[in-house]
Amino acid sequence: MKNIVVLVSGGGTNLQALIDAQKSGIITGGKITCVISSKEGAYALERAKQNGISTRVIPRKDYADVSSYTKAVTDAMLEEKADLIVYAGFMTILDEQIVKAFPYKMMNVHPALIPSFCGKGYYGLHVHEEALKAGVKLTGATVHFVTEVCDGGPIIIQKAVEVKNGDTPEILQRRVMEQAEWNILPQAVSLFCNDKIEVVDGKAIVKD
Ligand code: GAR
Repeated sequence: MKNIVVLVSGGGTNLQALIDAQKSGIITGGKITCVISSKEGAYALERAKQNGISTRVIPRKDYADVSSYTKAVTDAMLEEKADLIVYAGFMTILDEQIVKAFPYKMMNVHPALIPSFCGKGYYGLHVHEEALKAGVKLTGATVHFVTEVCDGGPIIIQKAVEVKNGDTPEILQRRVMEQAEWNILPQAVSLFCNDKIEVVDGKAIVKD
């Protein structure tokens, strides 16, 4: 049974999807053992508590720079004996220290089809604003391994979602979550926990 530690910063609907998937048996081979938030008062912490999952807060604002913050998060992950780290709406960038400590053991859900609308500055609602500005007809979500390149690690699963006339960023965000993120994140977690993902030449191969 792998220890899954989930990193959050906000509302935590992706965390909820993971909790629900764990309860319904969609996730096998692993268990969410801890939720760590970069912000005090994040609603995601409530979701964890309501489900008996231990929580920790490591406030980004208490650290002077990315390096000292990354060290604090990495130390917490080692203490928690994390086998898999899931960035689920985690809005803080960490540096290579944690990538070295947990190579191809961290995954992130991003609300677009990478390599579109990704990288530094593309997070949350802003991603959907940019997709609407560009006039794309399809967007979606991506689950990928976290490396030192922001949103640049091996892609594990992607799912496309239609953009419709009259969409606002909020409406599009909700559709992308419902039709893509909340499905592909638990799927990717379960695949990892069952040793079904291999990285070959910088690409993730999902074994069937
Ligand atoms: C989600 O759409 C997630 O993909 C996105 O923020 C939202 C968090 O929602 N993450 C990023 O943009 C990271 N680059 P949640 O807290 O309800 O899961």
